[in-house]
Amino acid sequence: MALSEQQPAGGSLAAVRDALGDARQVAVLTGAGMSAESGIPTFRDALTGLWANFDPEALASIEGFRADPARVYRWYVERREGVRRAEPNAGHVALAAWARRHPGSMTVITQNVDDLHQRAGQPGVIRLHGDILADQWLEPCRHPAVPGRPCDPADADEGQPPKCARCANLARPAVVWFGEALPEAALARAERAARECQLMLVVGTSGAVWPAAGLALQARRAGARVVILNPADSEIDVVAHDLLRGTAARLLPLLLGGGVAC
Ligand code: APR
Repeated sequence: MALSEQQPAGGSLAAVRDALGDARQVAVLTGAGMSAESGIPTFRDALTGLWANFDPEALASIEGFRADPARVYRWYVERREGVRRAEPNAGHVALAAWARRHPGSMTVITQNVDDLHQRAGQPGVIRLHGDILADQWLEPCRHPAVPGRPCDPADADEGQPPKCARCANLARPAVVWFGEALPEAALARAERAARECQLMLVVGTSGAVWPAAGLALQARRAGARVVILNPADSEIDVVAHDLLRGTAARLLPLLLGGGVAC
């Protein structure tokens, strides 16, 4: 099917493809919609099953964890299993293939805590909200056993957070929770990529959470063309030059050319 017949509503793929060809630096800001077609529910989807009666912000917060470490940790264990079962979709693969064809020209900045960009072979992914597959200590370690290697986690019961064998410090998921600051170095790299790009693709984010959502405005103010790829309206549509209505796994291969997973 010719490209023109696959135009998504609200924007011109051909015009964006031309802008892509002219751009020396492309920044890509991704959100949960990027992984939706890999089977990972978006954050603001209704929580399913056991979690349907919980407010995600109560689970994804330090207060929620301190109130009930086992419940919150079990929610993350279940989400981790979902991430491990998931595969990168055609959108992840197309981004990584384009980056391989244009070394040093694409920076992916993700709000997602899964590892699908990385598993698709995307180089240099900037993680704004952490890594759901990793743990970190709840409290700063009070007695590093070996410089840089804090407490040794003791085995935990099923679904319980690991504890330090000596000081009962708890392990928690290495993700940024509501009310917590983003990792400074990652945010600085993301802001630099937003300022230095000529084109920013904003894929699969509601634009509801700052400072991540503000990166699109930073790119626009620095003179970049901002293109939103989303099947629905988002809170930052007003910042975009182009709104491509469609899903990540359909639009990105059309825009970037397909690609083969590495
Ligand atoms: N392709 C592209 N976009 C999609 C798809 C898809 N297949 N399916 C859904 N979307 C869009 C939705 O229309 C919505 O705009 O993805 C967006 C998902 O929005 P959220 O669930 O709010 O996820 P996100 O924007 O990533 O949330 C930002 O908020 O909850 C915190 O830390 C969490 O990183 C997350 C941040």
